[in-house]
Amino acid sequence: MSDYPFYLRCSVCQEKYDYAWDINRCRKCSGPLWIEIEDEKLKKESNIIKSRNRSMWDYLPFFPFESQNEIISLGEGGTPLLPVSNFPFSSSLKNVLIKDETRNPTGSFKDRQTAPYCNLARKHGFGSIVTMSSGNVAVSLACHAAANGLRSYELLPDWTPPEKISMMEAYGGVPLRTKTTSSEMLYLMSEKICEKFHFYNGITAAIYSPMNIIGSKTIAYELYDVLKDHCNIFIASGGGGGVTALYHGAEEMMRMGLIHRFPRIFSVQPSGCSPIYVAWRNNLSYEEIISKRFQNCNSVATPLADDIPLDGYSAVTALKKTGGMALAVSDQEILDAQRLLSRGTGIFPEPAGAASIAGMISARDNGYIDPSERSIIVVTGSGMKNIESIKSWSQQEIGVENEELTKIKKLLVEAGLN
Ligand SMILES: Cc1ncc(COP(=O)(O)O)c(C=O)c1O
Ligand SMILES: [Zn+2]
Repeated sequence: MSDYPFYLRCSVCQEKYDYAWDINRCRKCSGPLWIEIEDEKLKKESNIIKSRNRSMWDYLPFFPFESQNEIISLGEGGTPLLPVSNFPFSSSLKNVLIKDETRNPTGSFKDRQTAPYCNLARKHGFGSIVTMSSGNVAVSLACHAAANGLRSYELLPDWTPPEKISMMEAYGGVPLRTKTTSSEMLYLMSEKICEKFHFYNGITAAIYSPMNIIGSKTIAYELYDVLKDHCNIFIASGGGGGVTALYHGAEEMMRMGLIHRFPRIFSVQPSGCSPIYVAWRNNLSYEEIISKRFQNCNSVATPLADDIPLDGYSAVTALKKTGGMALAVSDQEILDAQRLLSRGTGIFPEPAGAASIAGMISARDNGYIDPSERSIIVVTGSGMKNIESIKSWSQQEIGVENEELTKIKKLLVEAGLN
C-alpha cells in the first residue's frame, strides 16, 4: 500500500487496492469499491466533524482532492436539521428531526454526489459526462456539469417528469428520453457512449465511480451532534447509495471515536418497486441482487423505481450492521406523507422525498421503533421539480369568484393600478 491516506476496498469481498481515481470495480469479484481513509488521517481530521460546517466541502480532507482551489462548488450540503416540534403536526410525530436535503442547489441530496463527479471529470480532462436517471441525478448532473464547463447528456426512462427535463435543458444538458423503464438498458447505453466517445460515466452507483458514496457520506457527518446519542434514520432508497453512504459516514465516525453506537438505518421503498426490501428479507447475495430484476417496477415515486439496485448489497449490509430494517410502503402512504409534510411543516417534498416519512409512520405503527426514541427523517428531494404529483390536491381552478374578481379589477383600474 502507498503512503497516500486513501485506499479502495471492495464492499463485497473486502479486497484492498491503492487509490486510483479510475478504478471502479474489484478485480477479484467485480464488486463496487469504496474509498476508505487511513485511521491516522481520520483521527487527525476528526475536529472538522465537530465544528459546524456550512457546505460539504468544509470536509475536504475526507475527499481525495488536494485543495479547495481545485473545487467548483455551488454550496452543496450544510442543509438544516429542523425539529418537527416547531410545526403543528408535531403531536403525531414526536422526537422527529427533518434533515432537509431539498435545500441543495438543485433541490435534492444528489447534488452531494454529482458535484464530486463533475469536479473529478473536469480535473482529469473530460469534456463530457453522461448519466442515466429518472430525473434528480440528471438535473443535478446537468447543473454541476454547467458549473464545471462540461457538456452533459442525460439518459432518461419514459416516466421522467417534464419539469425535470426542462431543468436539464435550462442547464444546457442534453436530455435523451427513451421508451424504456429498465435501468439495465440505460446502464448499457451509458457504457457504450463512454466507450465510444470517451465521456465520463456519471451514473451515481459505486461500480461507475467510488466517488458516488463519498459526497453523501457528509450527511452523516453533518448529523454528528445527534448521532452521539442513539437515534433512528429513515431515508428513501432507489439504488441504495444513500443508505450505504449514511452507514459509511457513521462507520468512520465510530473509527474516529466520535460516536459509540450506530444509528439504526431504515431504507424505505415503494412496494411497487422494492428490490432492497426483497433482498433484505431474503438475505440475497451480491450476484442475486444485481441479476434479479424487480418485475413490473412502478411507483409515483419515480426516482425510487430502480429495478436493479446497484448499491443494494452495500445497503442491505448497512441495514444489518446497524440493526435497521428495509421497509416497503404503498404509493398512497407516500402521497399522504407528502401532503402531511407540505401542509404540516412548509417543507414541500416530491413523492420520493416523502417516502422516508411514510416509512417512519409505518415503523411506528407496526411497533418497529419506540415512538419515544429520536428519529431523523431525511427528506431527499423537493416537490418543486414534480408539480404533476400534486395536481389532484387542487380543489378549484380559481380561488376568487368571477363577480368578486370583476369588482377588484374595477377598483384596481380606478386606482390606476391596471
Ligand atoms: C429524491 C430521491 N430520494 C431518494 C433517492 C434514492 O437514492 P439512492 O439511489 O441513493 O438509494 C433518489 C434517487 O434518485 C432520489 O432522487
Ligand atoms: Zn471484491
